[in-house]
Amino acid sequence: MALIEVTDLYKSFGDVRAVDGVSFAVEEGTIFGFLGPNGAGKTTTIRILVTLSKQTSGSAFVAGVDVSSDPHGVRSRVGYAAQATGIDGDLTGYENVVLQGRLHGMSKREASEEAVRILEVISLSDVQERRAGTYSGGMARRLDLAQALIHRPSVLFLDEPTTGLDPQNRHAMWQYLKELNDGGMTIFLTTQYMEEADELADDLAIIDQGKIVVEGSPGELKRGVGGDSVTLTLRPGSGPDDVASVAGALESLVGADRVKTIDNAVVAHLVDGSSRIAEIVRAVDATGVPIGRLELAEPSLDQVFLKHTGSRLRVEEVKPASRLSRKRRRT
Ligand SMILES: Nc1ncnc2c1ncn2[C@@H]1O[C@H](COP(=O)(O)OP(=O)(O)OP(=O)(O)O)[C@@H](O)[C@H]1O
Ligand SMILES: [Mg+2]
Repeated sequence: MALIEVTDLYKSFGDVRAVDGVSFAVEEGTIFGFLGPNGAGKTTTIRILVTLSKQTSGSAFVAGVDVSSDPHGVRSRVGYAAQATGIDGDLTGYENVVLQGRLHGMSKREASEEAVRILEVISLSDVQERRAGTYSGGMARRLDLAQALIHRPSVLFLDEPTTGLDPQNRHAMWQYLKELNDGGMTIFLTTQYMEEADELADDLAIIDQGKIVVEGSPGELKRGVGGDSVTLTLRPGSGPDDVASVAGALESLVGADRVKTIDNAVVAHLVDGSSRIAEIVRAVDATGVPIGRLELAEPSLDQVFLKHTGSRLRVEEVKPASRLSRKRRRT
């Protein structure tokens, strides 16, 4: 069953078409990745799905509920962690989570019990009595996640959950998200990181300039690039004739494409290359040219992005951690 169903969604800000005719569906129990560069329309889409913004046209259903006609129905079913952290630095971690539960209409006792449970799951119990303003970037992001989970939503929306985190904290967050998903939670996340989409998403859509350019599982998308790359490096001292005969041997293989020579190496793309090592070695061995090294690499999502948009999806890996917002206290 599709838990999120988006059809022909548009959102304009004046002349800017932030979301330009987007359609997709997210199956229950899966992790769906929305991958795209700055300004692609990720946040605009997610804000429509969690009913913080209204679409210009098109429809979106979340957990069977229409975001336009029943925003309250949607809000009770979704958890949302925004791109900028939404925690109050003056409150403790525990108080932040309880507050969120109360805002969702939970009783004091229910919110308190659930907060304790979630803070444990998300490894924040040790620091739950500390002011959230003293948390590290990784802890703050986890607290955002805890807040999004307090009312036991059936779908979790996360806008760039690991942007600004160091690799260790990013991997820890991935682990939490996988565990939540293993427990049955449907997760929609946006990211600018290809490794993140690759690691987490069952299905992903690549969005650029408000449009989905391609959609599928990471494996399907990578296979669509046209095979694994095979690099054969010849031993030092080999000549142009040797390189040419190795290139010829690779070209003769079924499904080989884009065979290129670079100095004393030959690079080719080969469908299912990683499961055809023996065949590659036999073909090259028959030429009698001694080989120094054989390397096989799967295509990356970067290549997928390049193929479909003509540009690279380059993101600085380390951005400053997002600062805690100092929201006015609500009591
Ligand atoms: N409130 C707004 N008013 C005017 N333009 C907006 C507004 N919100 C977003 N935009 C524009 O819409 C486009 C999409 O923005 P959006 O924030 O959805 O991108 P994004 O994919 O989330 O980018 P990032 O990775 O930087 O967060 C951008 O051109 C942005 O400038
Ligand atoms: Mg954004």
